[in-house]
Amino acid sequence: MRKSPHCRVPSPCVVVIFGATGDLTRRKLVPALYNLFRQGLLPKPFFVIGFARRAQSDADFRQEIQSALEDFSRTKPTDQPLWNAFAETIFYHQSPFESAEGYKSLKERLHKLSSPQTPLNYLFYLSVPPKYFPPIIENLGKQNLLEERSHLHTAKVVIEKPFGHDARSAKELQTFITHYLKEEQIYRIDHYLGKETVQNLLVFRFANSIFESLWDSKHIDHIQITVAEDIGIGTRGHFFEEEGLLRDVVQNHMMQLLTLVAMEPPSDLQAQSIHDEKVKVLRSIRPFSPQDLEQHVVRGQYAASERCIGYREELDVNPHSRAETFIALRLFIDNWRWSEVPFYLRAGKRLPKRSTEIAIVFKKAPGVLFQQITPTQQPNILDIRIQPDEGISLTIHCKVPGPSSPIQPVKMDFRYGTYFGATTIEAYERLIWDCMLSDNTLFARFDEVAESWRLFTPILDHWQAHPTSPMPTYPAGSWGPQEADALLAQDQRNWRTL
Ligand code: BG6
Repeated sequence: MRKSPHCRVPSPCVVVIFGATGDLTRRKLVPALYNLFRQGLLPKPFFVIGFARRAQSDADFRQEIQSALEDFSRTKPTDQPLWNAFAETIFYHQSPFESAEGYKSLKERLHKLSSPQTPLNYLFYLSVPPKYFPPIIENLGKQNLLEERSHLHTAKVVIEKPFGHDARSAKELQTFITHYLKEEQIYRIDHYLGKETVQNLLVFRFANSIFESLWDSKHIDHIQITVAEDIGIGTRGHFFEEEGLLRDVVQNHMMQLLTLVAMEPPSDLQAQSIHDEKVKVLRSIRPFSPQDLEQHVVRGQYAASERCIGYREELDVNPHSRAETFIALRLFIDNWRWSEVPFYLRAGKRLPKRSTEIAIVFKKAPGVLFQQITPTQQPNILDIRIQPDEGISLTIHCKVPGPSSPIQPVKMDFRYGTYFGATTIEAYERLIWDCMLSDNTLFARFDEVAESWRLFTPILDHWQAHPTSPMPTYPAGSWGPQEADALLAQDQRNWRTL
């Protein structure tokens, strides 16, 4: 779809990670930087500064990173000479996120690393709880660290999700940060966009005329998008109590999948053209009205099962919590292409397996010829497996060899692993690298985020206004509450078996 990841190296750069002692840094950010370094994709010079509250030395921080790589890097064991070279680029900066002093000393440190011959680009990565986004950006702004003096000295800020808590707070956050930053400097990260299989959605749709000509309400019966996880919330009780699954996964990751599946072909592959088309889809989604919302949206919470504790027993979770760990919903995109085609979305924690899939369910063939042989003919289904077991399969109907000629569904199956071998680059590698290159195609533009919040805020408001409404539960390890099955049964449909 876009330039080969191996053809460019970014300009000299320092990455400052706020929240450097947190989980995301260990699991994703540091392994991503190390693997970019390993592939020779990082500039020279390059530095990482971990910014966090805990007191520790550079040496302690380097050790922490080394052990994170041992646990989480996709390439193991860590190559010792390579690690020694990478470790020299890493520093630790201790400060509270709101302390002006900490930013003054950060500025001094950044100036020392830079030189007039090789000015450094600044990439500030905000891997912190959302309440710290404004004070960090404000403090960076007050120290003039967000000023861009030329293309040789850029300053970018990567903001982790969630960007806002609802439509109003997202707008407030945007208004606040744009006092200090231009839109081109803001990189709202949604790591789903860094996944190879997600990037392939546009290629699959627009490089293959055979599918694109069937991609509409005349041929498609409905579409299902599932983001299933078998894990629970682990140690993220505090976060989950605040956010719930709608904000954590649906408002961002799932809407990115939906827009890529539903958008019109962009006029070119420029970031703006792609974002424009995604926004048009979001604007066309029929709003949920308070009257019919409960008919279209089901939430749930996992309860204890033989193998696992329930959500309300998890660490840092209120025993009367109303945070949802499961969502199923039906929505419609009121535009020419998708008129009256239901899109069913389902996401949950503690489901039977980890699986992110998009199923395009086509209309059945007219049942005039084979009714005698196969009275209940199934539709053709195109399954796009985002993860794991990445691939695409098409279910078609086939005559079983032999004189009795029954008809049977069979799968034409493409697997990434078999065809291309292991995926070469992880989502965070791709996204951090794109950010260093000032390419924001795979990041969310503010109007995308705002439109998505516009859609979901009425649901969040409705739940908040009805604190005693039923919260269906489902046994951990099952496919969600019965209400989710009923949602599709109302339309004489079923969820796909994954
Ligand atoms: C994160 C959510 O954004 O995405 C997590 O905060 C979720 O709750 C994760 O588990 C899923 O990501 P992936 O790449 O494992 O599908």
